[in-house]
Amino acid sequence: MTRADQATAVDAAEVLARCDHLGTLTAVPGIIHRAYLTPEHAAANAATAAWMAAAGMDTWTDAAGNIVGRYEGADPEAPVLLLGSHLDTVPNAGRYDGPLGVMLAIAVVARLHERGERLPFPIEVIGFGDEEGTRFGSTLLGSRAVAGTWDARWWELRDAEGVTLVEAFQTFGLDPSRVGEAARDPQRVLGYLEAHIEQGPYLEEAGRPLGVVSAIAGAHRFQLTITGKAGHAGGVPMDRRRDALVGASQAVLDIERLAREMDCVATVGMIEVAPGAANVIPGEASFSLDVRAATDEGRDACWRAIQDAIQEFCQERRLVLSIEETHSAPAEAPAPRLVDAVRAGIAATGDDDPLVLLSKAGHDAMAIAAMTDWAMLFIACAGGVSHHPAEAVTEADVAAALDAFEAAVVSLVR
Ligand code: GLV
Ligand code: MN
Ligand code: MN
Repeated sequence: MTRADQATAVDAAEVLARCDHLGTLTAVPGIIHRAYLTPEHAAANAATAAWMAAAGMDTWTDAAGNIVGRYEGADPEAPVLLLGSHLDTVPNAGRYDGPLGVMLAIAVVARLHERGERLPFPIEVIGFGDEEGTRFGSTLLGSRAVAGTWDARWWELRDAEGVTLVEAFQTFGLDPSRVGEAARDPQRVLGYLEAHIEQGPYLEEAGRPLGVVSAIAGAHRFQLTITGKAGHAGGVPMDRRRDALVGASQAVLDIERLAREMDCVATVGMIEVAPGAANVIPGEASFSLDVRAATDEGRDACWRAIQDAIQEFCQERRLVLSIEETHSAPAEAPAPRLVDAVRAGIAATGDDDPLVLLSKAGHDAMAIAAMTDWAMLFIACAGGVSHHPAEAVTEADVAAALDAFEAAVVSLVR
């Protein structure tokens, strides 16, 4: 555990500089990709721990690799307020999806520390190690460990290099048998607040820096495999082919059409073809599918329609569809008392009727929901762009977010 003696002021410019710095801790210069339990993750944890210590926090890496900082309360026994977001990223990411929320939380604590102020309750800031799920396919591993919903079946998940999750834990210096120690006792937790870029266009379009989240849409993810018959690209006549990639291509178009018709969002983000040669008809095409909607019912209806459409096409083409569910999370609603705190925070910046937004992006809060109440503050991002290196926020909006997040936290004292 470490603790710095010197209080360090952290303003919006410093919050942005820290996000920028994390963006430089990469394996490939200029390309941000920080996956769970990698050397880049360890470097981000170390930098974050130093900033937490400078804000007066005791720091440690928890049993799942999340970095945690604790700012003691006037009553150390009082249930703790958790603040946080994630430090992992998608491949070729921007700088703010995740880290901005962690850096804002540290900046709020730095302000309290600078004033020598203790709230009645302790605050713990968590930089979750895995939200995106890009290394092991299953998402929210860091926050699910904290929520106490870790699933032992995940240990055998493998990354693209064939490394299992259990091996990755050991390489990172963690003891897999102790992962349960990351779980929090709900009785000891006051709630969870998360600040995050909107990842959509509505705040910017409305000319507002901040908004409050009404719910997080549930997501369903699948790995779909279409199997046909590989064969000679010259020898097999067109009318006798069972081309798996033609099936997958039709599936991608059906998925887009049905998502539009049924007011959902559905994405095929990865596709692989086997055997994979210019002169061989594809015998197998395997692709990911991510489906989300405002309600679980709407999302599930869309998924059923997608399955029916693909099955029908596969039958016509003598192809076989197989389906593996890789992720399922229900829609989650925040707790009114914490939404009120976020509203009070935004009101402190001069907006007492903030935009209310449904998040179709997933967040650590949806995992933490299994353990405690939560609410989220959204910050405008340029053009709604996210999961892309062009992700951008303005310093003025981050300054408003810092004021609002601090006021939201302080409002819980009353
Ligand atoms: C996380 O960013 C997700 O919504 O997929
Ligand atoms: Mn993301
Ligand atoms: Mn995120």
